[in-house]
Amino acid sequence: MDVAVVGTGHVGLVTSVSLASIGHEVVGADSDHEKVALLQNGVSPFFEPGLDPLLQDEMANGRLSFASDVGAAIPNAEVVFLCVGTPPRADGEASLVAVEKAARVVARHATRDGVVVEKSTVPAGTADRVERILKHERPDLRLDVASNPEFLSEGRAVEDALNPYRILVGARSEAAFETLRRLYGPLIENGRRLIETDIQTAEIAKHVCNAFLAMKISFANAVARICERAGADVVGVADVMGADPRIGRAFLDAGLGYGGYCFPKDLLAFEKLVTKLGYSLPLLSEIARINDEAVEETAAKVREGLWNLEDKRVALLGLSFKPGTDDVRFSPGLALARRLLDGGARIVAYDPRALANAKAELPELEVASDPYDAAADAHCVVLCTEWEEFRSLELPRLAEVMAYPLIVDGRNILDPAQVHAAGFTYYPTGRPPVLQ
Ligand code: UGA
Repeated sequence: MDVAVVGTGHVGLVTSVSLASIGHEVVGADSDHEKVALLQNGVSPFFEPGLDPLLQDEMANGRLSFASDVGAAIPNAEVVFLCVGTPPRADGEASLVAVEKAARVVARHATRDGVVVEKSTVPAGTADRVERILKHERPDLRLDVASNPEFLSEGRAVEDALNPYRILVGARSEAAFETLRRLYGPLIENGRRLIETDIQTAEIAKHVCNAFLAMKISFANAVARICERAGADVVGVADVMGADPRIGRAFLDAGLGYGGYCFPKDLLAFEKLVTKLGYSLPLLSEIARINDEAVEETAAKVREGLWNLEDKRVALLGLSFKPGTDDVRFSPGLALARRLLDGGARIVAYDPRALANAKAELPELEVASDPYDAAADAHCVVLCTEWEEFRSLELPRLAEVMAYPLIVDGRNILDPAQVHAAGFTYYPTGRPPVLQ
């Protein structure tokens, strides 16, 4: 099928590449000329495991191309995906300016009946707005609107796109459902579950899934605070919870909290939406408050270990908001860096992928070439992101290069017994500290 994808950010690009790889003819369109030039050379503007090789394969076999003239991508398309950004306004509400603009471009350039699919996370009611534009501007065509929210998780987005837990399609007409069933046919035949709903249900479901996952993380972080006071171990508590399939172990890892471009902004946008709908759910702001508290609690552990921050050198390991990505948007590690810098500490950081992005956000950051380089002469190492390579740090080597043997583990990735054996004072999250 001929597909156009408007917007080549994380969602749009992964959508374009994965749809091409299941056999569709895809044009990824973006008005950002520089980004399109990069893509036309087979290079993704961000790091995502497995994306670049697939991108290059699909371009080479001719199923995937890119255009900076968004209008030119539309005429042939039977399905147009709107994957444009919905950044937060100052009040937290999602800005839908780019969605409206994209809908107008589609209306102007469409030459055939088809389905316009919102994939960006948008407040419930957005599809109605898009539909009104399409109907008003193009009464001559049948352009159905559908909602097909993405559930891609950064760092495993290609895998999630090709093997999704579920494919959610909200639509109003059988024609739209039929088109999207054909589009996702190869995945459905592969056993992937398609859930069909009305549009409002799909839009709300997307918000609720993210809010629920964020709630699990904040719940675990609140439990961590309780465990710290009770002398209990949050990892053990999470394992007990997770042994019950009604609860599930996933997303109960306490630590520095959630970041990234989805949870923080989507939670705020959902709260705005709920209020607009005439309901009040203070639980949502409590989730965000506990998440902010997680960064402060980690900073407090650094202060506890170092007494005064002034003139102390603190090494942060991991600055991406999670492993497997170079994305530092709303990164808890960066939030911690800002807090410690404000307190007078010198911060040196190492991350396998995200250093350039981190430095662009926080120029005061000193950067190091590996964890040991970062730790050299440091008074404290803080583990901020659970990159695989940090799990196998050579602890005696780390102790040797540091000025003072102190580790604060914001992701609970080290083994307390090993840390103890290497002579460190160790503050994990929600677990008993190791005091030497
Ligand atoms: C999230 C959802 O997982 C996706 O399903 C959704 O499609 C996406 O948002 C979106 O709306 O676009 P993502 O933000 O990429 O995906 O990453 P997650 O794996 O959900 O992690 C989010 C944050 O939670 C990370 O900072 C991670 O470190 C943190 N986290 C996760 C915890 O602190 N504890 C956990 O137990 C799990």
